[in-house]
Amino acid sequence: MQNVEEYLKKNQDRFLKELIELLKIPSISADSAFSQDVLDTAEAVKNALQKAGCDKVEICETDGYPIVYAEKILDPKLPTVLVYGHYDVQPPDPVDLWNSPPFQPEIKKTDLHPEGAIYARGACDDKGQMYMHVKALEFMVNTHQLPCNVKFMIEGEEEVGSRNLSVFVANNKEKLTNDVILISDTGMIAKDVPSITTGLRGLSYVEVEVTGPNRDLHSGLYGGAVANPNNILAKMIASLHDEDNRITIPGFYDKVQELSEEERAQMAKAPFSLEKYKNALSINDVRGEAGFSTNERNSIRPTLDVNGMWGGYTGEGAKTVIPSKAYAKISMRLVPNQDWQEITEIFKRHFEAIAPEGVKVKVKPHHGGQGYVTPIDNTAYQAASKAYETTFGKVPIPQRSGGSIPIVSLFEKELKSKTILMGFGLDSDAIHSPNEHFGIWNYLKGIETIPYFYKYFTEMSMDLEN
Ligand code: BES
Ligand code: MN
Ligand code: MN
Repeated sequence: MQNVEEYLKKNQDRFLKELIELLKIPSISADSAFSQDVLDTAEAVKNALQKAGCDKVEICETDGYPIVYAEKILDPKLPTVLVYGHYDVQPPDPVDLWNSPPFQPEIKKTDLHPEGAIYARGACDDKGQMYMHVKALEFMVNTHQLPCNVKFMIEGEEEVGSRNLSVFVANNKEKLTNDVILISDTGMIAKDVPSITTGLRGLSYVEVEVTGPNRDLHSGLYGGAVANPNNILAKMIASLHDEDNRITIPGFYDKVQELSEEERAQMAKAPFSLEKYKNALSINDVRGEAGFSTNERNSIRPTLDVNGMWGGYTGEGAKTVIPSKAYAKISMRLVPNQDWQEITEIFKRHFEAIAPEGVKVKVKPHHGGQGYVTPIDNTAYQAASKAYETTFGKVPIPQRSGGSIPIVSLFEKELKSKTILMGFGLDSDAIHSPNEHFGIWNYLKGIETIPYFYKYFTEMSMDLEN
């Protein structure tokens, strides 16, 4: 690979400016008030892919937000890399907690990022990381170093469950044929500890509703005599974990793939400081399933968490009321072999079964997806590993992540291809939180590393053929 560093130096200001323009568009897929912005972002991504050198660029309509598809096919006999990413972002709420407006990107220097980091919603998840691939392509095309075919599929509904992408993939298998899928929508251990994500957790997301009396009641006149849905819901939720912080739903762990002692020992070698972890979150202790380390708890073990809970009076001051209804949004992170639909079903059965007399319970499934693990003894992983080794000077550590990108397991099922997760974000980037940011160093390192993946993957695949 020639001149990648030189090309970066020459063009980095423009690379930053272009990303900043993209980050200014509030492409919030969850909020229909922003639908025009989401559509405008698709258009901007399409134009960027065209400028970067793709031959065919299309906006593919779906029942929801469109998918941007692009390709550059050099020769059908060469390998094909399919890049996936998403142009939609999470809502910025709570907006008051941002130090600068979420859609007016600002570059700020921090101890961790002396080169500066871009602060904006979507900076890391996933506009910044997706755009690294666009710029890496631009570099390869402009310097005549693109070694293989490339396809891009950038969606606008990842943050709301990728429902329409599933349909698109199932209906366009021919168009999407590839030899490997490449995604940058995860993180790495640290700037000086490169890692490749080898697993993602699955997800089952549900909403529960507990109904007591037919209307809100005076908490003096009725308090103590009828079931209070808030009290009942809190008790039901509390019963979902035992003393060891294990989930009590019968059958929940039945299919969990347990790791061997050897695999666990391997995992434990990844650098990690519990003190730093606690300090970064201002907590005096960690908490989780007995018998597992923090790194295990947040990657290879399933979880159940309340994401939001409401009912009754939550406004300013006090109002004396027993609510008619109480609600909670619950996510279960799943590990390989757990089936998200089955887990949703057993959750529903259990939650309905534990409801006491005096209330009615409804469980409404939202969305979900399967977990994913990728082996490391294949050409694609080896090529990615070599790419990091070239640009970081260190062999990257394979690491399973706790986050979910449910579409990845669907890619494997429908397109029969493996996915390489080359994430360049850091845990401290605050994705989904106020003050999300992405280090300029990380952004440029991504653009520098990606072309090497193409190079090594093509070379290694062709060697296998000969
Ligand atoms: N990019 C994240 C997932 C992620 C982040 C995985 C960091 C690993 C490391 C993605 O955009 C995301 O937020 N996914 C959702 C699930 C989706 C169905 C809404 C998640 O994990 O909560
Ligand atoms: Mn993402
Ligand atoms: Mn996300």
